[in-house]
Amino acid sequence: MSSFRVDLRSDTVTKPSAAMRKAMAEAEVGDDWYDDDPTVNLLQERAAEVVGKEAGVFVPTGTMANQIGLRLHFRGPGHLVAAAAGLHVTSVEVMTAAALAGIAYRTIEAGPRGWIDAEQTAQLLEPDEFYDVEVVDLLSVENTVGGVGGRVMPIEELRAVRKVADDAGVPVHLDGARIFNAAAASGLDASEIAAEATTMMFCLSKGLGAPIGSVLCGPADIGREARRLKILYGGAWRQAGIVAAAGLIALEEGPKRLHEDHERARRLAEGIGEVFPGSIDLDQVETNMVFVDTEAVGLPLYETLDRLAALGVGATHSGGKIRLVTHLDVDDAGIAGALDAWRELATERGI
Ligand SMILES: Cc1ncc(COP(=O)(O)O)c(C=O)c1O
Repeated sequence: MSSFRVDLRSDTVTKPSAAMRKAMAEAEVGDDWYDDDPTVNLLQERAAEVVGKEAGVFVPTGTMANQIGLRLHFRGPGHLVAAAAGLHVTSVEVMTAAALAGIAYRTIEAGPRGWIDAEQTAQLLEPDEFYDVEVVDLLSVENTVGGVGGRVMPIEELRAVRKVADDAGVPVHLDGARIFNAAAASGLDASEIAAEATTMMFCLSKGLGAPIGSVLCGPADIGREARRLKILYGGAWRQAGIVAAAGLIALEEGPKRLHEDHERARRLAEGIGEVFPGSIDLDQVETNMVFVDTEAVGLPLYETLDRLAALGVGATHSGGKIRLVTHLDVDDAGIAGALDAWRELATERGI
């Protein structure tokens, strides 16, 4: 049980609402291995519809959704998946991809903004010089981009990248773990962003507030093979309608309130920036994440995290900075409490 007064470690720490627990208790269920769970099937249909795809496959984690998505396009060892360095698939999941599918990546540094442009995409998709054959099976992109603070890859840039991939005959997989945050911040429908990818996944268990689950979506013909891979990866989870019931509520209700998380993240960022000038790049705060540079705090990263924890604030780190994430279980009082802790830290530092 977390002992933090305000837990900003991640948007995955939310607890299911009373409505979700009720729906879970009453869910109609069946054996998902046999495709028999009506609540899972409903969630898969609804998820695909919301993001404008033909089919959806409900799986326990975002990692599994990505791994099945990548594997669907990957032809085998000796081939490559192209992506920016530092994305979830090319960092946290790099060994998962190698172990489960033999996937090796061709990466390129995207720089501080986190995503690659059309020119870099063209570079990534060039035929292999040595063999002069096409070896890149897939381009993988991410939106929002977590490693740079939840920034939104602009739709024009995504479209330009997609065009380069189309011209090269390479499909695109979108890690849309937080696609609804990207949609809320850019005023687009999630389906407009998802339209730029052949397959895409999103997490129900992050900003949308479900306890468990992600959905991989794509064309109707991915369905059979995606289901085979889900079983292969140990993801055939029987009466999963219990969790799909919460997922359905998250999918309907979650996207409507993400702008609140974004407003609170901005308020938090502005407040910390006032207390520790130079610690925050406000231009990077576009969705529900705030990255704090501890150089301006005058304490090493881990000591700052420890002091925050002692003051009741849960935080983590990414790319050498403190990461704070707003979510469904953080209200205005939580933001005020977190800012009090940062002020207390400043007093301790004599600032
Ligand atoms: C961008 C991104 N993709 C994928 C994942 C994987 O999701 P999960 O933790 O459900 O495996 C995460 C998790 O934090 C993520 O941030």
